[in-house]
Amino acid sequence: MDIKVNFSGRALKYTEAEIAVVVDAMRNGETLTQGRHLQDFQKKFAAYQGLPEGCCFAVMNGVSALELSAQLCMFKPGDEVIVPSHTFTASAYPYAKKGAKLAWADIDLATRVVTADTIRAVLTPKTRAVVVVHLYGYVADMPAIMELARSRGILVIEDAAQSIGADVGGVRSGSFGDMAIFSFHSHKNLTTLGEGGMLVVRDEKLAKLVPMLRHNGHCAYPGERPDYWIPAMGNVDMPMLDGQMVWPNNYCIGEIECALGVVMLDRTDRINAEKRVQALRFIDALAGYPELEFHRVDTTRHNYHLLAARMTSGGRDAFIRAMYAKHGVKCVVQYMPLNRYDLYVKLGLGQAHCANADAFYDNMVSFPFQHWLTEEEFDHMLAATKAVLDELRQG
Ligand SMILES: Cc1ncc(COP(=O)(O)O)c(C=O)c1O
Repeated sequence: MDIKVNFSGRALKYTEAEIAVVVDAMRNGETLTQGRHLQDFQKKFAAYQGLPEGCCFAVMNGVSALELSAQLCMFKPGDEVIVPSHTFTASAYPYAKKGAKLAWADIDLATRVVTADTIRAVLTPKTRAVVVVHLYGYVADMPAIMELARSRGILVIEDAAQSIGADVGGVRSGSFGDMAIFSFHSHKNLTTLGEGGMLVVRDEKLAKLVPMLRHNGHCAYPGERPDYWIPAMGNVDMPMLDGQMVWPNNYCIGEIECALGVVMLDRTDRINAEKRVQALRFIDALAGYPELEFHRVDTTRHNYHLLAARMTSGGRDAFIRAMYAKHGVKCVVQYMPLNRYDLYVKLGLGQAHCANADAFYDNMVSFPFQHWLTEEEFDHMLAATKAVLDELRQG
């Protein structure tokens, strides 16, 4: 089949001005890593988030931000971390890797994200943290979740990999929790050449440690050195937190990605708004087909990173097959509940009481929804969707 609308791995096309920024950083950058573009990106990101300077740290991808957040939790034996079962694997495994026991929270069927109630259902005295994932670009009910977390003394880490720019009551996702992570992967509404990430750390004591953990344990020498080259170019010390050592990593991101991130931030709100308009056009045009249930949000609480629907009358696989085989539109299925993956089954985490996550995943369709879809592609996808649903109605 000739593919007419592909589920592309690329969400955005860069403007000439953005390309010029990249070329300039390539040509004139005084260094290609750890330079002024990194500082500028972090500062501008904090301002975009409405956060104070000094709490945002650019890293090489979302997973390295998650790994750092897991390290900063300083888990003790028996500590548990609550994670939605319906998410990307990277929301979960960094915490298991650092020694926490994972507990799966269910999603709300209509919004596809966790709620204070679904988190409360799996809280135990051992719960140390909860990872709230704003999946598909929709921000979970953070005020209610923060209230619950504060009353129980647990840390909140927002996985805002998909929700840049989306907000609740004017507070952007990633600005509620104790920590937050963002991804600038190729598929996201802001991408820094395919890979990139940001870690937000609100506690000043933890934030101070991040540059060292991000860059091999490098730090300043104590005191002035009479000869700048003695004893060596840079110091290396042992990162310590509450009397315990934390191993360093190298999770640095390059200057060119950061230079691009700085200018991409100027376009993020517009990209989000354009995607939301497109999503609403698609959803509203299918209002006569209740067998395809979308999550319709006409505010900035959703950035429509992805456009996902649930088939309420079964027939999901027949739908995707016909969309592909007859119309060349490549829909996909995303986010198998993590407890159903081999990795987590083998880790003994195969059990979950997440009926909504299972019901959603077993009937979900994710449409190809890159920002650069042409009018022609959009119209073709819409006509194909109606045609296939009409056929399915006839049985
Ligand atoms: C929900 C979620 N969490 C984490 C990640 C990991 O981000 P990255 O691919 O930048 O490492 C992604 C994206 O890929 C994601 O969608």
